[in-house]
Amino acid sequence: MRLIKRLAGGLKRFASASREDPSINTGCSEFEVNNWLISDFIVKKLVPLAGIHPYPLAELNLMVAAVCRLKPQQIFEWGTNIGKSARIFHEVGKHFRIPLHVHSIDLPDDAEHGEHPRSDRGYMVKGLRDVTLYQADGLVQAIELYQNNPGYKTLVFIDGDHGYESVLRELQGVIKSMPNANVLLHDTFFQSALAGYNVGPFNAIQDVLAASPGKYRVMSTNTGLPGMTLLYQL
Ligand SMILES: C[S@@+](CC[C@H](N)C(=O)[O-])C[C@H]1O[C@@H](n2cnc3c(N)ncnc32)[C@H](O)[C@@H]1O
Repeated sequence: MRLIKRLAGGLKRFASASREDPSINTGCSEFEVNNWLISDFIVKKLVPLAGIHPYPLAELNLMVAAVCRLKPQQIFEWGTNIGKSARIFHEVGKHFRIPLHVHSIDLPDDAEHGEHPRSDRGYMVKGLRDVTLYQADGLVQAIELYQNNPGYKTLVFIDGDHGYESVLRELQGVIKSMPNANVLLHDTFFQSALAGYNVGPFNAIQDVLAASPGKYRVMSTNTGLPGMTLLYQL
């Protein structure tokens, strides 16, 4: 019995990831995190919970790094789908003790969209107090909520409809109505055109950056699909 307890204790210690803040040189204008701390958390906590689909390791790394370094108090994300990204943001906040609330939005039940989750909507975040689900257009709902706390540090995660026009409208709307927000976008791989998949987000980002030079710095995972891009202001 004592041996079993010792083995269980050892396994628990092995699986526990450090809660040390991965942010580095926070007084500096450069983005830096401790990638070993973040990798440890991803391997031990996130992958067992969320797997590597649709967010492969490099994208999980960018999601965790963005939350740890930018420390948002509110995250607006769409679409919810099954709630995987919302759950990832919740887990990062909980683990690294970053107080944040995730507002996750998907389309109403009567909307026609090929990826609408129907009855599976948000099942990975059901019952979590720091995650609230909404059914509306993501941008419209996020702007309405943002106006309650415009001074909060804000992260927007855009992972809804991946058409060029949709992402362009969403990014322009964020810039106009949530000027202090940092923005993370999914499906942004620049070679998507060759792969015949989701070229919209990449092109929309290029056009928005050209129209607002100097507003954001850019960090992307660009080794392959699906790709993720962070537009940030430090
Ligand atoms: C690729 S899935 C998102 C995956 C999700 N982030 C996750 O981690 O499970 C795209 C989702 O965006 C939703 N969607 C599409 N257009 C939207 C819009 N304008 N507002 C809110 N949600 C939208 C779709 O219904 C679908 O559930």
